Amino acid sequence: MSKDTSPRPAKPKQTSVDVSEAQIAVHWPEEDYVSPPSPFIAQANLADPGIFQRFALDKFPESYKEFADLLDWYKYWDTTFDASNPPFWRWFVGGRINACHNCVDRHLARHKNKTAIHFVPEPESEAVQHLTYQELFVRVNEFAALLREHCGLKAGDRVTLHMPMVAELPLTMLACARLGVIHSQVFSGFSGKACADRIVDSESRLLITMDAYHRAGKLLDHKEKADTAALEAANAGHAVEKVLIWQRYPGKHSSPTPLVQGRDLVVNDLLPKFRGQRVEPVPMPAEAPLFLMYTSGTTGKPKGCQHSIGGYLAYVTWTSKNIQDIHPEDVYWCMADIGWITGHSYIVYGPLALAASSVVYEGVPNHPDAGRPWRIAEALDVNIFHTSPTAIRALRRDGPDEPAKYHYRFKHMTTVGEPIEPAVWKWYYNMVGKGQAVIVDTWWQTENGGFLCSTVPALHKMKPGSAGPGIPGIHPVIYDDEGKELAMGSGKAGNICIRNPWPGAFQTIWKDPDRYVRQYYKRYCRDPKSRDWRDWPYFAGDGAVQAADGYYRILGRIDDVINVAGHRLGTKEIESAALLVADVVEAAVVPVADEIKGKVPDLYVALKPGLAPSAAIGDKISASVVSEIGAIARPRRVIIVPDMPKTRSGKIMRRVLAAISNRQDPGDVSTLANPEVVEKIKSLAG
Ligand code: WTA
Repeated sequence: MSKDTSPRPAKPKQTSVDVSEAQIAVHWPEEDYVSPPSPFIAQANLADPGIFQRFALDKFPESYKEFADLLDWYKYWDTTFDASNPPFWRWFVGGRINACHNCVDRHLARHKNKTAIHFVPEPESEAVQHLTYQELFVRVNEFAALLREHCGLKAGDRVTLHMPMVAELPLTMLACARLGVIHSQVFSGFSGKACADRIVDSESRLLITMDAYHRAGKLLDHKEKADTAALEAANAGHAVEKVLIWQRYPGKHSSPTPLVQGRDLVVNDLLPKFRGQRVEPVPMPAEAPLFLMYTSGTTGKPKGCQHSIGGYLAYVTWTSKNIQDIHPEDVYWCMADIGWITGHSYIVYGPLALAASSVVYEGVPNHPDAGRPWRIAEALDVNIFHTSPTAIRALRRDGPDEPAKYHYRFKHMTTVGEPIEPAVWKWYYNMVGKGQAVIVDTWWQTENGGFLCSTVPALHKMKPGSAGPGIPGIHPVIYDDEGKELAMGSGKAGNICIRNPWPGAFQTIWKDPDRYVRQYYKRYCRDPKSRDWRDWPYFAGDGAVQAADGYYRILGRIDDVINVAGHRLGTKEIESAALLVADVVEAAVVPVADEIKGKVPDLYVALKPGLAPSAAIGDKISASVVSEIGAIARPRRVIIVPDMPKTRSGKIMRRVLAAISNRQDPGDVSTLANPEVVEKIKSLAG
């Protein structure tokens, strides 16, 4: 890896970005505190205020021993934290561990008859499936045997999963983890092409998928995406040797797309051969990768965040126990998709490591109506609930009075993924939580493995609209663009960073360690030669303010990432998809504030000279975005403009476009090379 060895003062704000979400962030006034309900405090896992002292910065890194001690180790580690090659931190070095053993086998002695996974199909006519820990153990073993014996997988191999929200998804992840195989689950809503990019980058020889799944009242053909993925991967020079297909209805092929002889294997046909087989979990080095999770960044190419087994599992287990307040007897429902980091950490690994019952719901929250989540909660007696502001806004819009009709009772609720407006927070608290549930607003990222900022639910008061301080062990700091630290509680906006490493942090970007250093650690590194972790704050890429009480409020991304309905999309990814349409010469994406989804993309394009704008071209561009990335990236509008507003050096001024889309004043445009175009764009976008 090449390293920049020159001393580096922090650079002024990078100029590759003309507009940031933070700049157009919606601000709301400070709210009054809300105290956690006393019945919650009485039963909470973490109610000892001494915790903050135990995790003070001067106790780093040995304080994190408490995290790893929640797990079973084949061999205890000898070094808690190794900083010898910054910023490639290593945790619990020398330890041997298996994630599947920790999430399944170790619970059999006391919890084998307990439900591990409640699978709730989207059609309400279909029965909920309750998978006990014993049953999960049996099925994970059989599938692990299939992966090992039939597919020849071994520790360190990568496998791409493109699976919907079904019980077979956690089962597949755990079977991989049992073998030390690195899984890379791609969100099922992503296109076959997006899946192919991730297959190629991770060099997976095997793709695991499902034939079909239910979404918004339809049984979608999912298998066709596997064919596209294999084809696109082959075009990029990478062969997918086998496609393993789970059947949504075992014994029946639910996709109109035929099987490809010699490549496609139906899991449900093969499994009987492995009935009753057991596969010993492979004792893996704590530092070996558990999975890759691709996410959007500042360039067009999604990056594979590599998470470790020991550090990651310790981190999600501790935070599930103490921030989610999961006890083994709880029924916990996180409504995220397992295809995102939230689902990996807080549907699968964290809750199962604690022997909780975790709900996996196949469909969309408001199908067939906005009472659905509350019926599920009532039927399964869910007492911990976790979702995103986008889902809360949609449920509030479609069924503001629905929760009161159902007899569930939450003790704890989480919000994650985007800032939540106080009015929405209050509906969540009063209507969904019925005034009895504590709320945590958790700020973190794919790269982080688990929560960074949140209130500790029994120890802090809640403040609607603010995430909270760093969780125990996490010490945030806000820097200004020049690298100066803003005073604690200054109330000024800056770039939020974390002073110290933590075990849940990703280890690197798969096959791109330089980018890992450049993007997350270079910006505020005090000395690139230093081996002292104190010189290497982690740069999150979010704008934030800290109030006098120490609570952080996250303003949004400062790079060219748009957070749509809590999902990260790179503006460059969308622009590249638009540029694949031959008629397009230039494309620029800007975030637009949206009442439900937080932000949505507007796509501005300029066409080749001589081409007349038409609705058909717009549709073609939109379709290209959907096929390259997926429906979640579909632009709100494709606006065909005669020319982009540009600086004299020819750079597209996205700030001006963002102002127009958000009906704000674009400010002084006189320094543009083509100021006259602004009025024309305004009339087209108006
Ligand atoms: C944003 C999701 C405000 C933030 C776990 C971050 C939030 C990005 C919050 C990461 C929150 C996440 N309040 N903003 N509570 N949580 N974000 O990688 O901009 O999908 O950088 O991880 O979501 O999104 P990602």
